Amino acid sequence: MISQPASVFIIVFTTINIVACLWLMWWTARTRVSSSDTKQSPAEGVGTTGHVWDGDLEELNNPLPRWWLGLFILTVLFGAAYLIFYPGLGNFRGTMGWTSVGQHEAQVALQRARFEAQVASLKDLSLRELANNGSAMATAKNLFGANCAGCHGSDARGARGFPNLTDNDWLWGGDEQRLLESIAQGRHGMMPALGSALGETGVNEVASYVVSLSGGKAPADWVSAGEQRFAMLCAACHGADAKGNQMLGAPNLTDNIWLHGGDFDSVRATITNGRDNQMPAHQELLGDTKVKLLAAYVLSLNEAEKHAAN
Ligand code: HEC
Ligand code: HEC
Repeated sequence: MISQPASVFIIVFTTINIVACLWLMWWTARTRVSSSDTKQSPAEGVGTTGHVWDGDLEELNNPLPRWWLGLFILTVLFGAAYLIFYPGLGNFRGTMGWTSVGQHEAQVALQRARFEAQVASLKDLSLRELANNGSAMATAKNLFGANCAGCHGSDARGARGFPNLTDNDWLWGGDEQRLLESIAQGRHGMMPALGSALGETGVNEVASYVVSLSGGKAPADWVSAGEQRFAMLCAACHGADAKGNQMLGAPNLTDNIWLHGGDFDSVRATITNGRDNQMPAHQELLGDTKVKLLAAYVLSLNEAEKHAAN
């Protein structure tokens, strides 16, 4: 919507232009016979424009050929009809009620309906059955590329802060129900900042203990002091054995698979500043069928991984 005066200006200006075009065509279409500044060319019997070059080269004043003129008139009529049927003249909406938003929504609805029809036969399959269904997984791979690859990578192997979805190691759990939940409702992983509670020495000690859990090297006296601190401050979430807790999304710290980096400095940074990591909910965006296909796809990636490992 534009302001009323601007709309009136556009309507008036456009109408004047269309009328002026028609007038120009009518005016050039006449065969002009001699007026004060044109004279009859004896050879052609047509008027000239009165321009003369090199003494005897004259410009004839022929009207446009009829077919050409006809095309011009059709163009003008097309323009006028367009402005009557479709929006274009200021705020006038056109008589057909067409809008770009309406067209977009109709196309989206059509795509949805097509997709639902295409996957209707898959609705009643379990996630495992879907994971073994080649055509379902081909569709799911495209869905993953469009909705998930931006964060988890096109191979689903993740990056720092974005978990690898192919390694059978889960923050929140890899069974069917937990996968569906992760995708539909999203996940929020919160590791509290414990720098001020621990102090610099405390952070060094507990970080050494964490690094040592997966075989990393660290000073022995720091490790044993860190183990005690871990039991007090960390075990509630990561478990006494440090193998994590999937109800809280607290990672296993013993398996040398790292979300935020497993070197001494990265672990210190995690403990000092905490981590706040979010997987957005996709239920509303994608709907039941696509969420299910994607959960099956993630499952299939891990099946493949298992076979590759054996
Ligand atoms: C905006 C980035 C983003 C997008 C898009 C995204 N994810 Fe995630 N996803 C994350 C993050 C970050 C986490 C880790 C959350 C945490 O730290 O607890 C995560 C976690 C997950 C988990 C749980 C992993 C585990 O170890 O338990 C699954 C499963 C998952 N995502 C699948 C998907 C799928 C399928 C899609 C596409 C529909 C998707 N994600 C789209 C960022 C994203
Ligand atoms: C309130 C629960 C909670 C407490 C207490 C807690 N953590 Fe965490 N921690 C988490 C969660 C949840 C994550 C995952 C964050 C994410 O999803 O990005 C995490 C992540 C981490 C990571 C990163 C792991 C990776 O793969 O990169 C390390 C290291 C870690 N915690 C160590 C500790 C240590 C050491 C303590 C005690 C000093 C501690 N945590 C206390 C919940 C907790």
